[in-house]
Amino acid sequence: MTFKLRALSLIIFAASGLAVQPTFFVPQRVASFSKEDFGQSDGKKVELYTLTNRNGVEAKITTYGGIVVSLKVPDKQGKLSDIVLGYDNLEGYLQDTSYFGALIGRYGNRIAKGRFKLNGTEYKLATNNGENHLHGGVKGFDKVVWNGRAAKTTNGVRLTLTYQSHDMEEGYPGNLFVTVAYTLTNANELRIDYSATTDKDTIVNLTHHSYFNLAGEGNGDILKHQLMINASRFTPVDPGLIPTGELRNVKGTPFDFLQPTPIGSRIDTEDEQLKIGRGYDHNFVINGPSGVLRKAASVSEETTGRVMEVWTTEPGMQFYTGNFLSGKPGKGGKPYQFRYGFCLETQHYPDSPNHLLFPTTVLKKGARYQSTTIYRFSSR
Ligand code: BGC
Repeated sequence: MTFKLRALSLIIFAASGLAVQPTFFVPQRVASFSKEDFGQSDGKKVELYTLTNRNGVEAKITTYGGIVVSLKVPDKQGKLSDIVLGYDNLEGYLQDTSYFGALIGRYGNRIAKGRFKLNGTEYKLATNNGENHLHGGVKGFDKVVWNGRAAKTTNGVRLTLTYQSHDMEEGYPGNLFVTVAYTLTNANELRIDYSATTDKDTIVNLTHHSYFNLAGEGNGDILKHQLMINASRFTPVDPGLIPTGELRNVKGTPFDFLQPTPIGSRIDTEDEQLKIGRGYDHNFVINGPSGVLRKAASVSEETTGRVMEVWTTEPGMQFYTGNFLSGKPGKGGKPYQFRYGFCLETQHYPDSPNHLLFPTTVLKKGARYQSTTIYRFSSR
């Protein structure tokens, strides 16, 4: 609208004495995005995108590691708080060893001794967790700079990230072309769509590693959060946190979260598996057919009324209770103590390439890897 027109309509409006405002005076919220510099890594420019939906829910995501730097969602009074652990600047993420908010690949969680066989060839991956390979190796997808492009969608706003992982990067065969789309929908969901193709048979298992605290990041531990996990079985681990191959029924164990249960109510009980993980650090076998979007978990926090649901097409989900956090300062210098955040990492089971009975993580040349996870926020 030109200045003259705007002035004219103002005069008409003032003269009319109407109680109802013309629509162009009503501030309307629409989903939007913006981008700013976030520093440099590997000589490459790193960007920070801000996605805002029409309800004011806001996600800040950086092209470094595809990291969700902050996620502001409302409580029962409508007050927005940042509910993910992280740092104030890129430097914090460059030094990070906890994978706060990051995209994880090529393989989420551990591969025993960093070894696996594919088509008769044994591959040796980078080992970065004792003798094991964890979260993609020394320089996984959480530590590389992705290309970013944001756009509005019919029901929100989306950041699409792409990365090409070269043949034998961290020991994995094949060039892998990866796309991860983060969509912040107007239904207050953070939706993650992963896809990948390869030019040689390889293995892929992508996930997302946000540490949540629905009371607000840095605001105490997460032990009183009520958690439901839609899983009747989990994969027990050996002392190196490698699955033994068993799918164990959760019935009668501290791993039964089929009904909402406080995270902390059984976490310190005498249980061999909880001792190994120093708490929960286990893959749950999500009920229902994998490949189909279904509810994997629901978490609520009483004081704020915040609720988060997790929906996924993946067969498994790692439930990790921040057992390796030990007071290192995060955002605003707040110390992130033991169990100040929890992760719900949707995935194929850890060490699948070495367990032929687990759902396969092999991606064939010419095929497409696809996976979707939704973190949905509400309050009550
Ligand atoms: C793993 C933990 C690991 C953590 C890294 C989780 O996904 O299961 O064992 O320590 O990531 O911070």
